[in-house]
Formats: sequence, C-alpha cells, structure tokens
Amino acid sequence: MSTTHAAPPPLDLMFSQDLISLEVSAQLPSDLQIRPLASTDYKRGHLDVLSVLSVVNDLGEAAWIDQFHAMRSTPHTYYSIVILDKASDKIVGVGTVVIERKFLRGLGSVGHIEDIAVDKSQQGKKLGLRIIQALTHISEDNGCYKTILNCSDANIPFYQKCGYVKKENEMAKYASERAHTPKL
Ligand code: ACO
Repeated sequence: MSTTHAAPPPLDLMFSQDLISLEVSAQLPSDLQIRPLASTDYKRGHLDVLSVLSVVNDLGEAAWIDQFHAMRSTPHTYYSIVILDKASDKIVGVGTVVIERKFLRGLGSVGHIEDIAVDKSQQGKKLGLRIIQALTHISEDNGCYKTILNCSDANIPFYQKCGYVKKENEMAKYASERAHTPKL
C-alpha cells in the first residue's frame, strides 16, 4: 500500500499572493509566513489575534466566512493579510488595507490601514513592522497617492518607526447601541 499523502488543497485567498512584497516575505523568520487572509483562517485563530486590539464579538465560523466572501466580492477594495506560524498553523499577526477611490486628485485612491494586531507572545519581533510594510506596498501597488491610519498616542512611536508621520486629527461619533447593527 502506498504511504504517500495527497497534497492539501490550495488555500482560498482573499486576493493574489503576488501582491505580497517579496522583500517583506524574505525578512520574516523562516518559521513564519505572510500571506493574504484565507477563507479557512477562522480556524487558525484570526479573531483571537484581533481580540488583542479590540472587542471581537465572535458570531461563529459561518458568519465569519460570509463576511470574508462579502469583502472579497468588492474587487480591489479589501486586502486583509496574516502572519502564520507554520509549525502550529496558527495566525500570529493580522492587518488590513482598504482602498478608497476618490473623485479628487485625478480620480486618485487612498489606502486606509485598519485593524493591526500581533499576538502578545510575538510582539516586539518586528512582525507589526512587516505587516505595515506589506500593507503599504499593496496600497502603493494599487496606485494610492497616500496611505493613512488612526492610532492611539501610545502607538505613535511604532508607526513612526514604520515611516509614518503625524498629520491632522481623528474625529469620531459612535452610533447608539440600537443603530449599529450591520445592515449589509
Ligand atoms: N512604543 C514605542 N515603540 C514601539 C511601540 C510602542 N508602543 N511598539 C513598537 N515599537 C517599536 C519597536 O520597539 C520597534 O522598534 P525598533 O525597530 O527600534 O526595534 C518598532 O517599533 C517595530 O516594532 P514591532 O516589533 O514590529 O512591533 P510589534 O510586532 O510588537 O507590533 C503593535 C506593534 C501592532 C502595535 C502590537 O504591539 C500590537 O498588536 N498591539 C496591540 C494592538 C494595537 O494597538 N494595534 C494597533 C492599532 S492601530 C491600527 O490598527 C491602525
């Protein structure tokens, strides 16, 4: 009887691996991999890593997969990436860049970096830096004239280390509990 195993099926990715900077990939330790979010990443702890950043409210795998497909069905807009620990098959870092198309600047585009988080056990190993470099590359590869993000005062030094500079202020108005159930 043959002992060879069939290769695992290819991952169902949010976008092409070709958009991940080879230079950034090469700078990661060999036990880690940077790639687009996959439709099976709920099982790899995607929300566990995001919970390092903010409240997650896990609605279960089926709802997570629906959101993945909804985001992917809007082409050239959502680019979520992960850093994976190959040995444990667990996600240890996440981030997203959303591409906004504008009427300004000759129909220009702006990249909005969102939801950056690194698992507590892996912080301080330059993974956050690699995520920001990879997302900035995607944004610039899409032709965005700038890439922007909001952050706390405590995270300003981190983003400065990533080459970002402080500009202007953030304003926010939170909806009431009743009003903020997603309608899409
Ligand atoms: N203050 C000062 N310097 C910092 C800080 C900080 N809070 N965080 C990182 N740095 C420095 C590091 O020392 C390093 O400097 P060096 O090059 O001189 O050694 C450089 O920034 C790169 O740091 P990394 O090791 O890449 O940072 P890490 O992998 O720990 O990721 C992150 C940073 C993402 C902020 C992580 O700590 C984290 O997940 N925090 C909790 C969630 C969070 O706050 N996310 C960001 C929200 S903002 C947004 O999503 C747009």
